[in-house]
Amino acid sequence: MHKTAADIRRMKGRERIAAVTAYDYSLASLCDRAGGIDVLLVGDSAAMVVLGQDGTAGATVGQMCMFTSAVARARKSAMVVADMPFMSYQPGTGAAVRNAGRLVRAGADAVKIEGGLAAAPAVRAITDAGVPVMGHIGLQPQTSRLSGGYRVQGRTDAEAGRLAEDAAALEEAGAFSIVLEMVARQAAGAVTRSAGVPTIGIGSGAECDGQVLVLHDLLGIYDRVSPRFAKRYADLSPAVSGAVASYAAEVKGGAFPAAEHSFDMDGGEGGGEEAGPAASGPGG
Ligand code: KIV
Repeated sequence: MHKTAADIRRMKGRERIAAVTAYDYSLASLCDRAGGIDVLLVGDSAAMVVLGQDGTAGATVGQMCMFTSAVARARKSAMVVADMPFMSYQPGTGAAVRNAGRLVRAGADAVKIEGGLAAAPAVRAITDAGVPVMGHIGLQPQTSRLSGGYRVQGRTDAEAGRLAEDAAALEEAGAFSIVLEMVARQAAGAVTRSAGVPTIGIGSGAECDGQVLVLHDLLGIYDRVSPRFAKRYADLSPAVSGAVASYAAEVKGGAFPAAEHSFDMDGGEGGGEEAGPAASGPGG
């Protein structure tokens, strides 16, 4: 059985929550089987790291449903949370509930919404419809370009106070957890202590109840931006490029495919074994 919103909520004060983004079947399987991951977040960061766009605002509900269904097919133990993309919930609670429903039908166990007080009515409507909601305050990438760019939030007492009010409004509206993005660590600590639901930090210091990272940052396979808070646990770019370059060189030099990668006609020499299906199609 996989984790649920209730399980995540119960972890506050007991066990730190480990979340990571995922967008496709293969990497979601590896993350889920790695051990210790509680939440697979199908983030709208997919627009950047998968689709190569400059920001997250271009993600659509249709795209998020496609990524969500791939991740949901892969997971066995983690909870799958899908981001509601820009303008899928802002137009009103009707649109919010309808679009949350599409993501749940695609395989999400919960949805995530950016915004504090202003997002509370959407959070309430979606939770009333039976879908758990994760909040997201601090830096809100969907709209941050419109409101002053990427900058650390909660650096002043006034900003920290507003974050605490936003968190309280989301909790009151039914959110089961709240992402804090790029919040000064003292402010994140204060929100974490005052909130009854877990906070999940990204670039918000160690006092949050859990952490989330974008998988492509963690693996070192995204070459555009590298935020200071995103620790690289691996540098896979050279390994991927090296493997692909070796393949290309072997194709050009005639070393690939060898006999063991080929099939014989009936009665032909070699008696090669039948292979299973390749990832890309039938092998027989
Ligand atoms: O889209 C995303 O990946 C996110 C995380 C950064 C929290 O919202």
